[in-house]
Amino acid sequence: MTAGRNNILKLSDIKLIDKHKRKLNYLRISVTDRCNMQCIYCMTHENITMLPGSEILSYEETLRIAKVFTQLGVSKIRVTGGEPLIRKGICDFLIKLGKLDGLSDLSITTNGILLKEKIEKLKSAGIKRLNISMDTLKKYKFENITGVDAFDKVWESIMTAHEMGFYPIKLNVVALYGINDDELIDFARLSFSYPFHIRFIEYMPIGTSQLVSRQLFATEIKSIISSIGPLIPVEKSTFDGPAQRYKFENAKGEIGFIRPISEHFCGSCNRLRLTASGNLKTCLLSDGQTDLKTPLRNGCSDKELAEIILKAVYDKPLEHPLASNCATVISGDMCNIGG
Ligand code: 5AD
Ligand code: SF4
Repeated sequence: MTAGRNNILKLSDIKLIDKHKRKLNYLRISVTDRCNMQCIYCMTHENITMLPGSEILSYEETLRIAKVFTQLGVSKIRVTGGEPLIRKGICDFLIKLGKLDGLSDLSITTNGILLKEKIEKLKSAGIKRLNISMDTLKKYKFENITGVDAFDKVWESIMTAHEMGFYPIKLNVVALYGINDDELIDFARLSFSYPFHIRFIEYMPIGTSQLVSRQLFATEIKSIISSIGPLIPVEKSTFDGPAQRYKFENAKGEIGFIRPISEHFCGSCNRLRLTASGNLKTCLLSDGQTDLKTPLRNGCSDKELAEIILKAVYDKPLEHPLASNCATVISGDMCNIGG
């Protein structure tokens, strides 16, 4: 398809590398833009427009695209949403996804509501690692943040996952000034009782989410939680994401800081995202995307699909616009892109 590249394309050989020499081996796949929560930092509570079903990639289409990605060197896939577990047939899809050649790690990010009821099947799909959103430990606040009174259900899911040996279980805490800043120490203390990885995430102004709050940056969080003890850095391992990892002495779990705003990690970014509507986003926080669904539905071959992907990946932006202060709000909803 792209003139001059056919001679170099041999699917089994080619790795996804961009013009800044970053290797992209990690794909996040959003399987739905729908969610059974409405977190304040993720969606507006009014005028939510969902994609029509025909715009969402079918599982077969997603599997085909995922297969091409693994042939190009993706070895790690995380399935996200919206809420992935609300999509019908998700467990069977995950089982098929997990069987792709070359895939060494399959995980999901979930809000936890449906996790307990699907957990056996998730285990049999080979999922070991879970990321669960948990922005408050206080039952009375949970509904204000997520729009749903489901604190107990989510907590039970977390406990069940823990008892069934899922590891690591990462709790995603979006740090929100005036909303959960009074709970940072409680979250940090959880890492003494359970082997959870508590990940404090800086709020990103994305899409239509409305948040009237000042930013709570990682340095501030770190200094607040350091009051319970010194944070010992944990050495990075190969499969590490962008979190800066720490541990309190004698704690079972870890503390992580994800700092997309105050210290962006674009230089070492190894991620690509496939949206529910079949667009490849090479950067979460940049507007550009590449349509994979149309060529797929027009009958392109795997090789042609690979060409389109390689070209888009080559042009992955060096850094997101917030890093260079060019923009304040990024368009697109987190629930379609998949965080
Ligand atoms: N800023 C930071 N993190 C966000 N997430 C969703 N929206 C935002 C945002 N605006 C995180 C949540 C969720 C994960 C998929 O993405 O923690 O667990
Ligand atoms: Fe749903 Fe996750 Fe967005 Fe919350 S952050 S509304 S759980 S997709």
